[in-house]
Amino acid sequence: MSLAIMCSGGDAPGMNPAIKRFVDYVYEKGEIPYFVYNGLEGLIDGQIERATHKDVAGIVHRGGAIIRSSRSKRFYEYKYRKQAYENLVKSDVTGLVVLGGDGSFRAMDLMSREFDLNFVGIPTTIDNDIYGTDICLGVDTALNVIRDALDKIRDTASTFSRAFIVEVMGRDCGYLAIVSAITSGAEICIVPEVDFNKSVVEEHLKREIANGRNYILSIVAEGTKKTNEIAQWLENSVGMESRITVLGHIQRGGSPTVYDRMLAFEFTIRAVDHLLANTSSNKVVVIKNGQYGMCEISEVVDNRYTINPELLGMLNKLD
Ligand code: F6P
Repeated sequence: MSLAIMCSGGDAPGMNPAIKRFVDYVYEKGEIPYFVYNGLEGLIDGQIERATHKDVAGIVHRGGAIIRSSRSKRFYEYKYRKQAYENLVKSDVTGLVVLGGDGSFRAMDLMSREFDLNFVGIPTTIDNDIYGTDICLGVDTALNVIRDALDKIRDTASTFSRAFIVEVMGRDCGYLAIVSAITSGAEICIVPEVDFNKSVVEEHLKREIANGRNYILSIVAEGTKKTNEIAQWLENSVGMESRITVLGHIQRGGSPTVYDRMLAFEFTIRAVDHLLANTSSNKVVVIKNGQYGMCEISEVVDNRYTINPELLGMLNKLD
């Protein structure tokens, strides 16, 4: 049997450990591993090559993905999905492991309804916005990148008596912002999931400033699009000079944490085992309450991820 692995959409730390485990494990099982290079774009163009142990030597600690990734507009068109499927058939690939997020799973779900395709998805995105799993591959590393940045920003914020507004990624999901705010003790956290009561917080902050508070750390999720607004409000209404830091794509880079490496290994082994045991069922590997499992692809793509209310409850509520 020949199995292939592909990365799709935004890259996330942990992809390389997963790719390494995939190649080594598929060979251990006596099967042949393949790479699909450049994500869905590469699948359309037939960039499918046999993988060797040498390809994956010394990559476990590296961020990014040695087989690269892409966001594909062409894949929205049926003719390109057909071409992609035919390329898999031509290469004798009978099962595909896809490291990707929501959009990639939707694309694969569509393709699997049209063609006789077997795939298993590994939830891989720093946004942590995939239904059915508590955590996605790459999230822990991204959180640690943010933590490191926030610790440094706190140093300068406190020395200069300033308000810092730190914008973090997550697309429409506030998970990165919420966990970062909780673990860094930020005064303010603005996320799409929670209403923000400006006047109550303003009053509270003014009182604190009068009592000696000399800096403010606020985390804003990019999905709110409120970074500039919050900076102006802190400066003009709360009365503290402010600075904006947009962390941007550094959150997607860096050496995967130990947690992400282990998660990559566990997810990959389960994905391969599933493909070897089942020839006609498309699923996503998940972890829920510490237990690994498989979720139907339809369930994953038809439902919306929501943040655990207990986590929301841990936010430092100023109102
Ligand atoms: O989905 C991962 C992510 O990093 C989001 O957090 C962010 O909104 C988006 O991708 C950025 O996309 P791009 O890398 O295409 O600019």
